[in-house]
Amino acid sequence: MRTTPFFSDSSTEGSEISTKLEGITKKFGRLTVFDNLNLEISRGELFSLVGPSGSGKTTLLRIIAGLEIQDSGHVYINSKAVDGLSPPRRNIGMVFQDYALYPNKTVIDNIMSPLIVKNVKRSVARKEAEEMAERLSIGETLARKPAQISGGQQQRVALARALIKKPDVFLLDEPFSNLDAQLRFSARKFLKEVQREFGITTIYVTHDQSEALSISDRVAIMGGGRVHQVGTPREIYEAPSDEFVAMFIGSPPLNVISVQVKGGNSTPITMKLPGVSDGAFRVGIRPEGVTIGRGNNEATVTSLEYAGRETIVYLKVAETEIRSIVFDAGLLKVGQKVKFDVQQSPLVLAREDS
Ligand SMILES: Nc1ncnc2c1ncn2[C@@H]1O[C@H](COP(=O)(O)OP(=O)(O)O)[C@@H](O)[C@H]1O
Ligand SMILES: [Mg+2]
Repeated sequence: MRTTPFFSDSSTEGSEISTKLEGITKKFGRLTVFDNLNLEISRGELFSLVGPSGSGKTTLLRIIAGLEIQDSGHVYINSKAVDGLSPPRRNIGMVFQDYALYPNKTVIDNIMSPLIVKNVKRSVARKEAEEMAERLSIGETLARKPAQISGGQQQRVALARALIKKPDVFLLDEPFSNLDAQLRFSARKFLKEVQREFGITTIYVTHDQSEALSISDRVAIMGGGRVHQVGTPREIYEAPSDEFVAMFIGSPPLNVISVQVKGGNSTPITMKLPGVSDGAFRVGIRPEGVTIGRGNNEATVTSLEYAGRETIVYLKVAETEIRSIVFDAGLLKVGQKVKFDVQQSPLVLAREDS
């Protein structure tokens, strides 16, 4: 457990779990968004909810915040059931995609507004807001209005305004999706640093799997009304629990192909499949595990996608297509015959003949 001077709330000591969702079911009319969903978020971690659009990420955050009420199940924050508490009484900080800054208020007034609502004395609120702005490197913008600062600065104002309440949990819903690619990259890194420094439990929602992998301590993969897997980014990438996770994580995505195994040999693509018995299987192969140049397989190059540092090479073996990432593809041409090898152990996803 992390302790920091900023978030030294003694009432939360003694429990490693910050936020617990127990048996959450939520329906909108006939649509079941979740059915008996369970999750535990540890104190001080950066936990991401990632899944395709419509998988219920926003709904789940809103349930934690109390903006949406579950049909059954419980939300606990610091071991206390908060089901009956209105949003302001849950002590949660939130930042959404649209930062919802007050356009007519200055930056400093925006940042201190949650304290004013709580009847903190104006001079005290101002001092705390100034300190927070300094920590988030927006100290020089305090007298301006939101329209007079950059998108990245607006983002920091929204973070500052959420953090000044010293929330028990910090909820972020796709907070950087309005920023351009460059800014998003630095905003992400900045968030990670702030999160570390403050040691604040953070639940981060994104549809971008690479973003989730890059910043999170742990990730939950959501889809089809349930949580498919919870784990560290490395666990999720290296050992996806099912085909949904395997296909969702990684860019370019996993190759999923059908192979026949007989006597230790696989067709149409030869690869090592340790411990796999005879039969038909669907296997997953990461594009970076396919190396071109030599090996036991022969294929035709059908397409080349230049991506700067790497090139994505599409290969065809009989009727099977497989993608490879190549860092030096200068000599490859469409139509060329090449040898290749599957160097990583494939993920065996399903048996196809049972
Ligand atoms: N207030 C609502 N009324 C009806 N359906 C809703 C409401 N809010 C969300 N939904 C539906 O619930 C599903 C999950 O939505 P949402 O939580 O916004 O997903 P995500 O944030 O992962 O994109 C979607 O099918 C969406 O259309
Ligand atoms: Mg959403």
